[in-house]
Amino acid sequence: MPSQVKEKNDKGSSAEETPTFPPSGHLKKQAHIPDMGTYRQMYNRSIHKPEEFWMEVASEFYWKTSPSGKVLDYNFDIRKGKIFVEFMKGATTNVCYNVLDRNIMEKNLGDKTAFYWEGNAPDNSSAITYWDLLKQVCKFANVLKKLGMVKKGDRVAIYLPMIPELYAMLAFAGFSSESLCERILDYGVFRGEKLINLKQIQMKLCKSVRKVCAFTVYINMEMHPVANCIVVKHLQGKLNNQNEGTLQTAWNCEVDSWLDELMMDASEECGPVWLDAEDPLFILYTSGSTGKPKGVLHTVAGYLIFTALTFKCVFDYHEDDVYWSTADIGWITGHSYITYGPLANGATSVLFEGIPTYPHVARFWEIIQKYKVTKFYTAPTAIRLLMKYGNEVVQKFDLTSLKILGTVGEPINSEAWLWYYNVIGNQQCPIVDTFWQTETGGHVVTPLPAATPLKPGSASFPFFGVLPAVLNEHGEELEGEAEGYLVFKQPWPSIMRSLYGNHERYENTYFSKFPGYYVAGDGCKRDKDGYIWITGRIDDMLNVSGHLLSTAEVEAALTEHLAVAEAAVVSRPHQVKGECIYCFVILKDGKKFTEQIGEELKKLVREKIGPIATPDFIQNAPGLPKTRSGKIMRRVLRQIARNERELGDISTLADPSIVEVLFSQRCEAA
Ligand code: WT7
Repeated sequence: MPSQVKEKNDKGSSAEETPTFPPSGHLKKQAHIPDMGTYRQMYNRSIHKPEEFWMEVASEFYWKTSPSGKVLDYNFDIRKGKIFVEFMKGATTNVCYNVLDRNIMEKNLGDKTAFYWEGNAPDNSSAITYWDLLKQVCKFANVLKKLGMVKKGDRVAIYLPMIPELYAMLAFAGFSSESLCERILDYGVFRGEKLINLKQIQMKLCKSVRKVCAFTVYINMEMHPVANCIVVKHLQGKLNNQNEGTLQTAWNCEVDSWLDELMMDASEECGPVWLDAEDPLFILYTSGSTGKPKGVLHTVAGYLIFTALTFKCVFDYHEDDVYWSTADIGWITGHSYITYGPLANGATSVLFEGIPTYPHVARFWEIIQKYKVTKFYTAPTAIRLLMKYGNEVVQKFDLTSLKILGTVGEPINSEAWLWYYNVIGNQQCPIVDTFWQTETGGHVVTPLPAATPLKPGSASFPFFGVLPAVLNEHGEELEGEAEGYLVFKQPWPSIMRSLYGNHERYENTYFSKFPGYYVAGDGCKRDKDGYIWITGRIDDMLNVSGHLLSTAEVEAALTEHLAVAEAAVVSRPHQVKGECIYCFVILKDGKKFTEQIGEELKKLVREKIGPIATPDFIQNAPGLPKTRSGKIMRRVLRQIARNERELGDISTLADPSIVEVLFSQRCEAA
């Protein structure tokens, strides 16, 4: 039982008191970071002697050559010139070699299971060892070589569901082009009971490329004509007459080919291509507040080292663990903490294709029991969803294998935290609330499970190498108890290096608001014990079920409707999704708002962006609160959506009377 030490969690904003939960006693004996003393001592070294600290971590990996100059070189101050971060430049290595070959040869892990694959349907599962995985990666790399498809510098798009063929990721973790864009995709996939024709979606994408959020992997926004498209036969033999029709799609003989046919006679051996520590590893797209998604670029060495060390310490990894992250591989969480971090440590993981509620609402708990999962990592939105079904469905399953629970994606409310802790963890498992971003590559603020006393809802303290600060509006660093902008003062190895194809946007977005700092875009509070509490996005982003969406993106979709003149979108708290989407639309003159238009708008957003972006509320607005310079005051709209009547200063509004009108017509229920 936790000793419920009562403490205030923040100064006065709520009278509520949060108990502190001590770190797990039974983990301590063999933990990598057993107590706060060890954490502090290592943390201080990582901040004051980062080169020494990280070279020690790097020494566990294979390097063909050593760094040619400084281990860490950077400029975080836009006033002094170009922003850059270089880590171990000149050193050469190969990520795939480190996560597969090295584990097999040096650590003898060839026969160890790398992934238990659990299909959408419970009777569909398989396992793949480190050896098998390496063989598949090599065969696939040889297929690509033979087709003359990929060479160093090429960008490749992968469009697959959560299936073992994702090993394709590793076959490219080395090639890096200008002219072609390839894809490997799956023909179709079941999500719960729904059959989705991925091939058809891919064909549409090739014609008109926009962003797909639902289940996609790499979409290159500057799409070139697709030269080759390799397709996986995934549901073969699993379709009936009824649903077979769904997968009927045109086959383009000029570019399409089947993966299994190409793989048949490919060799199982393929030597690694040695890359520079600072060569690109991958680009992942994340929403930007001003429209176009940002292609976050990560590089080889720093990303490898940081995801490996965070995985090891934050999940206190040991060789007999069975680790499961429920994230999608196409998300940064899937890259860092399904693929690279766990494989770098030689871990055994679960790869799950399905959804938490199919064929029943205890699917997660059933999978934990089936594979005796020890470390489990999911999102607050999933916890809130599953909480709704009560404790009984959970208690039918044996979850005693669990040792550590993790969350990521958005702040976790204490109700969900306590349920996760009490019901899923049976008060035995610390919860690591990991704060990070696509841009940070890995965990930056997080508890360490055997060391950190936990406060529900707080991501607690910075990880090694990460130096946060809290700034006020004027860019002054605040000491002690404080609330403001969360920024970072120096780079850690896996911080993003650029926005693909737009370094200027990288500098403007992250380094110009407060020169000298990386600005995360989140607000935070630091309490009297130094704990960091993330308070949410400071800009206009929406965080729906842990997925960041930009308001601009949703507004652009809404205004594509013929009846819509203008739209403004804000978030509103939602019990399950964390935040949901609330839209204000101004119709064109002469158009009348009807239920049908409302439905059409929801459908439009869903089609343009993805199911995750489906609006919950659409309010017909006669006008919008705008400043005299014409900028929409989203803060005011947010307050209308939430029915918060304390408006603060609205003196800059061109027409303040619109606020009352909008309040009187607000949507109560969806
Ligand atoms: C944004 C980053 C990192 C992978 C998942 C999302 C929010 C993330 C937490 C947390 C509070 C969190 C932040 C952040 N966020 N984790 N533990 N507590 N907020 O990656 O799509 O790049 O989104 O997610 O607002 O900036 P992403």
